[in-house]
Amino acid sequence: MSGAAALPNVFAAIDTPDLEAAKRLAATLQDAGCGIKLGLEFFSAHGGAGVAAVMAAASGAPLFLDLKFHDIPNTVAGAIRAVVPLRPAIVNVHAAGGPAMMRAAVAAASEAAATHGVARPRVLAVTVLTSMDDADLSAVGQTPPAESQVVRLAQLSQSCGMDGVVCSAREIGPIRAACGGEFALVVPGIRPAGSAQGDQKRVMTPADAMAAGATSLVVGRPITTADDPLAAARAIVAEAAAGAAPPK
Ligand code: C5P
Repeated sequence: MSGAAALPNVFAAIDTPDLEAAKRLAATLQDAGCGIKLGLEFFSAHGGAGVAAVMAAASGAPLFLDLKFHDIPNTVAGAIRAVVPLRPAIVNVHAAGGPAMMRAAVAAASEAAATHGVARPRVLAVTVLTSMDDADLSAVGQTPPAESQVVRLAQLSQSCGMDGVVCSAREIGPIRAACGGEFALVVPGIRPAGSAQGDQKRVMTPADAMAAGATSLVVGRPITTADDPLAAARAIVAEAAAGAAPPK
């Protein structure tokens, strides 16, 4: 474990290449009790300086830096060392990068955190992208069904010292059964009752996903496109807390 602070129940995904819009939204959400997720779209446009600017506007909210690194171990380690000064609570890599890459990522996170005097980020694995179906898995030489591959890669990630995985709501049960209660499960594809599904095909409500065993939820458009993003985020944070198991 990283010894870092507990993860928030909800990360708001700010998916935009617009720096000013991202800063405005982060400032709006600073009192919502959620973390902020920034991903490849934003990072490719604005880099670490942009991330720092958004997180300054968010006044200390936890950051999930969703860059899904996948390269040789030495390069992934270097990428992790480069982002640790941004103080992410979570960084992630593709489990398909292999055991040596995952171990290098965790080691680099620990070293860089010690060097910079910051908490070590949780290092999570992406198992199988939810955009891939069984035919896609076969096409890249992996063995379907996707759910077996997800559980296998989650167990491999855990054995390599990773702190958890990003997974869909329907994968929570099988991964919890295989990897136990301490493994962090960060879950996108969340929709409060009555909100638009968008392009998400299989969705779960915040309360149901937390009750199923999610550690943290990732919620994008139900917050970012709401007329009142702060009110929407607060409602989702409250619903997630209602579904979460009481603290032990
Ligand atoms: O707007 P929405 O709530 O669908 O956004 C979900 C966020 O989670 C986006 O940033 C998306 O890239 C991310 N994500 C996802 N499904 C995955 C992994 C990540 O929707 N399997």
